[in-house]
Amino acid sequence: MNDRDLLQAANDIRANAYCPYSNFPVGAALLCADGTVYTGVNVENGVNGLSLCAERVALFKAISEGHRDFVKLAVTCDRPHCQPCGACRQVLSEHAPELEILMGNPHGEFVRTTIRDLLPETFSL
Ligand code: THU
Repeated sequence: MNDRDLLQAANDIRANAYCPYSNFPVGAALLCADGTVYTGVNVENGVNGLSLCAERVALFKAISEGHRDFVKLAVTCDRPHCQPCGACRQVLSEHAPELEILMGNPHGEFVRTTIRDLLPETFSL
């Protein structure tokens, strides 16, 4: 899947976001090494701290289906380009240290980066 299609998948799934508290839908699409794509949206909760970001939903879906090798993640939200939060950076970094990241917006524009650039000197056990 090419970059445009991955960004489109991330943007399309935003419609499924459960975000009644923030009204800030985020979509993610994760490309696995075998070509499989897993999407995710933010899923919020009325209890503070229990919400999950779109990036981790996509990653955990993929991991729970047995995937371990990840190539690229596209994430989009209604910002010039959607930056993954610090918690997602830490989690992505453990499971996908070579991950490329496309930080996009609903108009198809994006900034290309890597998890290494977003979180250098990562903690790991
Ligand atoms: N959010 C994500 O899903 N991913 C990000 O990269 C940034 C923030 C969600 C969390 C929360 O549901 C809403 O956006 C506002 O912070």
